[in-house]
Parts: sequence; C-alpha cells; structure tokens
Amino acid sequence: MKKNALSATPKVLFVTPEIYPLIKTGGLADVSGSLPAALRELGADVRVLVPGYPKVLAGIKNKRLLHIFHDLPETDEARLISAKLPGSGVPLFIIDCPALFQRDGNPYQDPSGTDWPDNARRFALLSRIGAILASDASPLSFRPGIVHCNDWQSGIVPALLHFAPGRKKAASVMTIHNLAFQGIFPAQTLDQVGLPPECFNMEGVEFYGNFSFLKAGLYYAGHITTVSPNYAQEIQKEPLGFGMQGLLAHRSEQLTGIVNGIDTKDWNPAADRHLVQTYDTDNMAGKAANKRALQEKMGLDPDPAIPLLGIISRITHQKGLDLLLKVAPHLLDEPVQIVLLGTGDAALEEGFRKLARAHPGKVAVLIGFDEGLSHLIEAGVDLFLMPSRFEPCGLNQMYSQRYGTPPVVHATGGLSDTVVDVNPRTLADHSATGFVFRHMTAVDLHACVRRALAAYRDHATWRSLQRNGMARDFSWEKSAADYLALYRTVLSAEC
Ligand code: ADP
Ligand code: GLC
Repeated sequence: MKKNALSATPKVLFVTPEIYPLIKTGGLADVSGSLPAALRELGADVRVLVPGYPKVLAGIKNKRLLHIFHDLPETDEARLISAKLPGSGVPLFIIDCPALFQRDGNPYQDPSGTDWPDNARRFALLSRIGAILASDASPLSFRPGIVHCNDWQSGIVPALLHFAPGRKKAASVMTIHNLAFQGIFPAQTLDQVGLPPECFNMEGVEFYGNFSFLKAGLYYAGHITTVSPNYAQEIQKEPLGFGMQGLLAHRSEQLTGIVNGIDTKDWNPAADRHLVQTYDTDNMAGKAANKRALQEKMGLDPDPAIPLLGIISRITHQKGLDLLLKVAPHLLDEPVQIVLLGTGDAALEEGFRKLARAHPGKVAVLIGFDEGLSHLIEAGVDLFLMPSRFEPCGLNQMYSQRYGTPPVVHATGGLSDTVVDVNPRTLADHSATGFVFRHMTAVDLHACVRRALAAYRDHATWRSLQRNGMARDFSWEKSAADYLALYRTVLSAEC
C-alpha cells in the first residue's frame, strides 16, 4: 500500500460470518456490529462483508445490486448487494447466494444442531469474495488497503490473496475470536477452494493431516490479533493454543491482543428498551423493578431479598457450565435463585432442565436465544456467573458491570483483563468490580460464589462494587483507536 494510502484514513473491508442486529450466535456478532461503527467515528472508511442468510436479507432496506459473480469455484452465481446496517448505518456488502446461504437454522448448523455438510464451500465463498474485493480483481471502486478477517470462516482470505495473481492487494489482519474453532476439513477440500497443493504443508494450511481455514489465516495474514491481551499470551502455549501455539509463538511479533469494547448505546441501563424500568448508578430503584419483573416472568418466587444469580451463555464445555451444574445443588442449600438463558450441548441443557424441575420457584431455565430477555437478565439479577474454562474476551462480564451486576468469573483470558477481584486493597482504591476464582474446580467456584453472597449481604461493599463497575469505561473508543493504529502500522510495513 502506497504512501498516499498511509497519510489518508485507512479503507478497510471487514469480513465476518455474523453481525448484530441482523444475525447473531455469540459475541462475534456484537463485535462486528459495533467495532466498524466505532472505527468509522474515528474517520476510517470501514465496510463490512457478510453472507446473505435469510435474516440478513430480511433485515435490510434499500438493497442495491452491485455485481453478479459468475463461475466461482464454489458457485455458478453469487450476487453482491449493498445496504446499510440498521442502527449505525455502516455500509454492508452482502453475498446473495441462495444455494449456500438461504437456509433455516443458524449460520453454521441446521435446525437440529448439526454442522452444515458444505460449510467449507459456504465460507470459502465468503472468503473468496473477500479476497476479490481486497484485490485489483474487484469490480467495485472501493479499494481497501486492509482486509480485516474474523475467525475461521474468513480465514482463507489471506491465503487466497497470497496466491492471487496481480500486485495490488490489501494487507490482511486476522482476528481470532475463539481459537477452539479452527475450520478443519479433509485435505481434499483444498482443491474445492482453489488453493495450490504446495500450501498443503506445515508451513501453510496443513494441520495434522487436515486443511484448517484458521491456520491459513494465521500463517498468511500480515498481522494477527485476538480479543484480549491476556488471551494473546495464553494461546502461545498449551493448552489454550489448541495445537496452534507453535505458529502463534513464532509469530508473536505480529500478534496483538486488543480487548473488545461494548456497544454502550445498546447496553445502557439508563436507556435500555428491553427493561421494565431504566436506572443508573445514583438511582437503582429500577434495578429492583427489573428483578421483580424477571422473577415473575420466569416463575421464580417474587422475593426481593433473595440473591438472584444469572447466566446467559452458549451451554458448552468452554463456558464451564458442567462445573456449575455440579455446584448448583450445593448453592441451592442456601436461599438463592438461579436463572439461566442459553442453548448448546444437549446433555448439559437437559441437566439444567432437570435442576429447574427439582427446584421449582428457585431455578428457572430457558433453553433458547432471546436478545430482549438477555438484557432483562443483566438488569434483573444480582450476580452474574461466568465460570468459563477459557474465554478469549467475553462480553457478558462487561455488560454485567455496566448493569450494576457484579460478575463471578474464572481467571482466564479477557475475564482476567476486565474484572477486578474484590479485596481490601481494591475496595479501598475503588477498582473492585467482581469476584475472580483461580482454579477451575467445583470447590473454587463454590467458594467464590459464597464469597460473593457474603459481599451481597454487606450493603456498603455491594454498593461500592456496583458503583465501580457501572463507572468503568468499556466503550470501543480506546480499542478502536488501537485497531486504527495497528492498521497504520500494517500498511506502513507493506510499503
Ligand atoms: P461467546 O461469543 O463465546 O458466546 P461472549 O460473551 O463474547 O461469548 O458473547 C456472547 C453474546 O451472546 C452476548 O451478547 C450474550 O448476551 C449473547 N448470548 C449468548 N447466549 C444467548 C442466548 N441464549 N440468548 C440471548 N443472547 C445470548
Ligand atoms: C468469541 C469468544 C468470546 C469473545 C467473542 C467476541 O466467541 O468466545 O470470548 O468475547 O468471540 O470477540
């Protein structure tokens, strides 16, 4: 990228498989829905490329057909549509390819929870169009200097660019939101996505005999980022490197951890339309009203004094909910209530349903995905539980702090970077915001929740934790500026 591209504000193509408010399965959607807008506020020309799932096409207005791609390796025909992201107005490029994206279910799985068998082809198409738009083969006048890829679904963009003919290509940044998902497919898949056989080796896209979309990104991207500084360190070693630790340690000079921000407009207890009553740090009456409403809605005993513990999560091994299931019966010996909203692993889902049946009025479990209810839970519960085994960043612990709901978290990844454990020193300097446990054991989790319950009974400590958390700045401002600085560094390295 050449000198004038450096002095001007960067042009960025942000490639993502999900984006809030159009389509969301987890935190990547929240980040894709808010980081590009924050970067645009800093002056960068960021546009987002996303697949045209039914919810995406139904959720946008004023679509404009930009181009029709023919005879790509993945499909005979794909239409490129432009629109604006509802809310922030960020420009979108949407891939309309009904054969690959017009399906019920979520972006990655069919309604029964099984991965779509043609996921390699589906996300190769996302990556391919990303790579075309990031090179001089693009049919558009928008020519990005940076292509910013997110997770394995856009992981082969840097490899496709590396092997593409032509000289004018954007520099690539690959962000890892979760290294546990590596986009691993049989070796033969390489042919289908049009990458040359010579990249199928350790110094390339090969991963223990298979082809990994994510490894392609980690190997060929100009720079790698991940979503918290602590996780950037953790993934350079076992066990959280999930087999990629060697490559990541080797590239540590080009690996940066930038903590996620949150959308402080969407997640604002003083203006949240999903709450029955809004509130702020000086007037917490609304929080009690939301607790009452939540207890009523979920069939819990309507007792304002009983501490209410909340969980909103993918119900998976990563999130440590198996451990919570072990500890919950002991916690319930005391006067506490638990509300859980989530979907995921069928056996764990059933475990939580069983817990609710055994404790009517004390445990409420809703298996499903419900954005509005997730806001009401953040506002209505007293404590938020996030015992994740690993957590690249995590967003709910930040939402919780902003909603005056101190979180209980395991000391891992972004949870360590964003929650300050309460102790006499952190109480005195007003930095304490929650409860952190070190060892991923039932004993430690139980002890930590009991410590939190003791603090809950001490009004002064509790108010101080709530105030500290609600005053923290989790906005994108600083992290977006860090991305912008990184884009500039990457562009200058290309010169
Ligand atoms: P991850 O991306 O690993 O799932 P994050 O904490 O980064 O974890 O983000 C999860 C996001 O998804 C949060 O916005 C959370 O509120 C939301 N979420 C998770 N499960 C549900 C659910 N069942 N219903 C509504 N929102 C959910
Ligand atoms: C992933 C991670 C989560 C992170 C989110 C957004 O899904 O599991 O920790 O907050 O991506 O970056």
